[in-house]
Amino acid sequence: MEFEARKFVQEKLKEIEEQAKEGKAVCATSGGVDSMACAVLAHKVLGDRLTVVFIDDGLMREGEPQRVLKEVQEQGIKAEIKETREEFFRALKGIEDPEEKRKAFRDTFYKVLGRIIKEKGADYLVQGTIAADIAETKKGIKTQHNVLEQIGVNPGDYGLKILEPLREIYKHQVREVARELGLPEEIHQRMPFPGPGLATRVIGEVTPERVGILRKATEIVEEEIESLKPFQAFAVLMKDRATGIVREKRAFGSIIVVRSVESKDALTASVTKVPHEVLEKIQERITTEIPSVTKVLFDITPKPPSTIEYI
Ligand code: XMP
Repeated sequence: MEFEARKFVQEKLKEIEEQAKEGKAVCATSGGVDSMACAVLAHKVLGDRLTVVFIDDGLMREGEPQRVLKEVQEQGIKAEIKETREEFFRALKGIEDPEEKRKAFRDTFYKVLGRIIKEKGADYLVQGTIAADIAETKKGIKTQHNVLEQIGVNPGDYGLKILEPLREIYKHQVREVARELGLPEEIHQRMPFPGPGLATRVIGEVTPERVGILRKATEIVEEEIESLKPFQAFAVLMKDRATGIVREKRAFGSIIVVRSVESKDALTASVTKVPHEVLEKIQERITTEIPSVTKVLFDITPKPPSTIEYI
């Protein structure tokens, strides 16, 4: 059956209206298309009863907190940044196992969010969970940070009601909904970025220094590949090191992997056919602008057998 964004929006507005007749709501946004569409949808019904919060966990891309705050405010929505970097890095300290990392992120995320909800006296939590999050969680592929049942959290215990208007639809449909809601193209066509942010792309321990290296590499990959409009393109920092030559001296430096994939629903993905010149430019910029990196690799694995992210 053809997906009709306009009809979907109307249905959801009615649904939110029935679910949240009175009381306050909080929505945590990452700036991604899912949480932005969700926030705008909820705002149409809730107006100033909704506060959107950007949790600055220190795992976001360059300039992201300020950019997202501005974008949310441009939609006429009350919004604020909650600075919690230290708390996240403390929780992630010493952890290398991917699922442990996801759990530490998720537990901290909900601890912070719980505090915000209490502070605001909110009765509702609006979440941008989409169908793929739920499908992958059910299959046990990974611990998705925003699937509450998985954490054993029964929001009812806290007197909190959850609104997840995008639960039944996939990424390409969310983009149509975002367009229907009047969000700018820059947002509705934005590349997916995982909730646990750069922590999903740092193999080994997540420290401010290692995230700093990855943040810079991510910026370079995104800038250089943007014109190809991939479904998702990013950098990953490996745990291994490799020998290279830095300032004419032998150095045992970091390894960055460049990944770019094409997909519709993120459930399967093929590798972007990135022109060699683009890859060369990326390599040149990464090794010049981040001298501690001595190798740049390109990942040629589709999903399956791989996943899109590295943890
Ligand atoms: P994988 O790595 O499972 O990723 O092939 C599929 C899609 O989901 C994104 N992703 C996440 N998004 N929270 C999110 O909001 C998460 O924990 C998470 N893990 C993966 C990933 O970027 C890709 O688009």
